[in-house]
Amino acid sequence: MRIEEILYTQGFGTRRVCAGLVQQGFVTVSGSPIEDPGADVETEGLRFTVQGAEWEYHEKAYLMLHKPAGTECSQKPSTYPSIYTLLPSPLRLRPNKGAVQGVQAIGRLDQDTTGLLLLTDDGQFIHRMGSPKHHVPKVYEVTTKHPIDDSQVARLLAGVVLDDDPKPVRAAACELAGPLHLSLTLTEGKYHQVKRMLAAVGNRVEALHRSRIGMLALPDDLPPGQWRWLRPEEVEALRNARGSHLVVTVAR
Ligand code: URA
Repeated sequence: MRIEEILYTQGFGTRRVCAGLVQQGFVTVSGSPIEDPGADVETEGLRFTVQGAEWEYHEKAYLMLHKPAGTECSQKPSTYPSIYTLLPSPLRLRPNKGAVQGVQAIGRLDQDTTGLLLLTDDGQFIHRMGSPKHHVPKVYEVTTKHPIDDSQVARLLAGVVLDDDPKPVRAAACELAGPLHLSLTLTEGKYHQVKRMLAAVGNRVEALHRSRIGMLALPDDLPPGQWRWLRPEEVEALRNARGSHLVVTVAR
């Protein structure tokens, strides 16, 4: 692929802008400016710089973000800054045939929820991860207002009815991590689900953090507000993630 086409696919602007960046010598590959803009450049493992900023070529973008509190997952937030402002502009401007531009969050977390959020520009992947058929398990670390008792844990595992649906929703796993701390695994993602489930058993969520999606844990070395590319094997593991093998556990 020609370098200006590469820049275009990676979200560096219109084709005209990308051609301009190359012509003006703002792009380097392997540390050297582009000598022949018409040359075919190998995209596999390609690293380049645009105006001094380093970039890796990714045919499709798959990334994780450590969502900080006080951010909204919407592109058009109402009160708090959007999580999309935490990403570099090429990730927000990647062209996408017939679909919305740039990467999109896979599901949403509430404004005050922290933790692991995945984003991609692969529509099929978003569909697969959100499909009820796949039941990808998500683990939430919950801090409650009142001490959690065994009957509350039992009810979360047995299933509680939320106000908008007569069908009960249940935790796939529930582990007590202290009197006010609970690790809750869900395989579906209804609106405010954790908060509503805890309210349904007579408790209240004080803080909520998503620590895991499928086999992927939020790494300790990714601080709030930071993002990183997913590795190919992580994307593959998520593609194959299913909740059906989950074992229900209650432990103190
Ligand atoms: N459940 C909630 O109540 N809030 C979230 O952000 C995620 C799951």
